[in-house]
Amino acid sequence: MSLFGSGQNTYIGMDIGSSHVKVVGLKSNSSKRPKLFGAGVASTPPGSVMDGAIANINAVKKAVLLATQQAGLKIKGQSITVGLRGLNVLYKRMVLPYQEEAEMAEQILREAQQQIDSDLDDWVVDHQIITEKDDQGQVAVMLVAGKRGVIEDLQNLIIELGGRPSIVDCDVFAIANAYELSFGTVSAPTLFLDIGKETTKVHFAAADGVPAIVRSFSLGGQNLTELIGRMMSMDFGRAEALKISASQTGSLFKDKRLAESTRTHINEVISELSQTLDFYSSIDTSEENKQIKNIVLSGGGSTTAGLAQALSQHFKAKAQFLDPFSMIDFPRRTQPPEDVQPHVFATGVGLALRYLGDKPL
Ligand SMILES: Nc1ncnc2c1ncn2[C@@H]1O[C@H](COP(=O)(O)OP(=O)(O)OP(=O)(O)O)[C@@H](O)[C@H]1O
Ligand SMILES: [Mg+2]
Repeated sequence: MSLFGSGQNTYIGMDIGSSHVKVVGLKSNSSKRPKLFGAGVASTPPGSVMDGAIANINAVKKAVLLATQQAGLKIKGQSITVGLRGLNVLYKRMVLPYQEEAEMAEQILREAQQQIDSDLDDWVVDHQIITEKDDQGQVAVMLVAGKRGVIEDLQNLIIELGGRPSIVDCDVFAIANAYELSFGTVSAPTLFLDIGKETTKVHFAAADGVPAIVRSFSLGGQNLTELIGRMMSMDFGRAEALKISASQTGSLFKDKRLAESTRTHINEVISELSQTLDFYSSIDTSEENKQIKNIVLSGGGSTTAGLAQALSQHFKAKAQFLDPFSMIDFPRRTQPPEDVQPHVFATGVGLALRYLGDKPL
């Protein structure tokens, strides 16, 4: 797989989260490994980004400018890839008879209309054929529909910052791209989990690497902060600071109330995931997809002490944090920020990787 063509272009991935904007710039070079051009992060004020949709453009602009400044990147004239997530994007995996592109697109639109209650004009509908034609002449197709208004807001943000909006990707697929750069094509059942502040994004790739389930649920780091706040009668800010420091020092399980809140939160995450996976195994009864082999974690909320171990034990699979920089070269003096864990940049790196091979919108 060639991710980058020749030339010296910079590609910027912008992950606009409900608590942080993460910006990653990658440069193509003649070697196989992309080069890091810069990575930066800045907080987004509460309520300014909701489920990946921009609610306060000025606040988000400020955060993006801070993050790009930290990264040492310039946005002007650059191609920027952003991502969609949550309720702003809809996925449906279908098996359809293989047909010419125009006919396929028409059938996809009909399917989309069945999935979407509102006016289809409010959505941008796309699809991708994800398997080879089988003996019956059928292919698996992934229908993806994104809310037009949310996409336009993201594009306007980039234009206002002087950049060139290019691809609008889906966060979950961007993360899988970042994983494949480091570890090669997925060849065993793999559960990708990105846990942010507000949401958990789930992508279960089957043994053949094809997306089998893509969904998100409203459970993230803020839920644990709220539990801690209630348990210890603290406001959100103090509870958040306590959570992070206890998680970093490993003392989260030393205090009874912190430990109880953390266990409750972890159990809620496991319960949501189990429901999703149980539903899938009722549809796909094949032996090869029964047992998850890898759990790949990204997003700040996945750092919660004890979460990776609990997931690994519950699903009997290897759990690992995704370091999206492991196959990226760092030129002298260009490093990702030291105080941010690499797996927080997984979506940003994946978005930056997406440019080549895709048609600009
Ligand atoms: N060491 C830690 N232990 C526990 N939680 C942490 C830690 N570090 C960060 N977090 C949590 O990670 C979350 C922020 O992660 P991230 O920056 O990935 O979110 P986001 O991408 O902005 O959110 P979303 O994707 O939901 O919009 C916060 O809820 C924060 O409390
Ligand atoms: Mg996020």
